[in-house]
Amino acid sequence: MTDHYPLAQYVDDLRKITAATADEDRILARVGPLAQRFVADRSWLQPKHCQADEAQGFGVHLLHEEADHSLAVLVLSWLPGRGTPPHDHGTWAVVAGVEGVEHNVRYNRIDDGSRPDFAELEIKHEFDAAEGELVCMKSGGIHMVTNQTDQVTLSLR
Ligand SMILES: [Fe+2]
Repeated sequence: MTDHYPLAQYVDDLRKITAATADEDRILARVGPLAQRFVADRSWLQPKHCQADEAQGFGVHLLHEEADHSLAVLVLSWLPGRGTPPHDHGTWAVVAGVEGVEHNVRYNRIDDGSRPDFAELEIKHEFDAAEGELVCMKSGGIHMVTNQTDQVTLSLR
């Protein structure tokens, strides 16, 4: 028996959570289980979500974005052997595996941030995230994702 958890309900829950608190630890703790519930209900998943840009190595498929850009739900597809260099984000993010295994590396920044376009990083944590597994990041978290498998991988964020 599958628990049906539609996109509209997931988005509504995200709105309630982010309206109730600005504390990112609390937001991540509450959104995580809902993201897992949403990816477990695969009724929203479509073949087009596997499409990816050959030049970039990935595809971005928007499921929902608020008019004021305060919230977005998207599916990222990664081509085999492709990924990102280390990068940071301006916002918190909850990533939930949808298909395949994505290799994640989280970093600590160890320089003082005084040199423009330069950051010295050390690896904090390295792990493989499979279907239904979460990667939770606070604002400014630095990470890298690669698809080390021979299939397209999909994740929700
Ligand atoms: Fe990222």
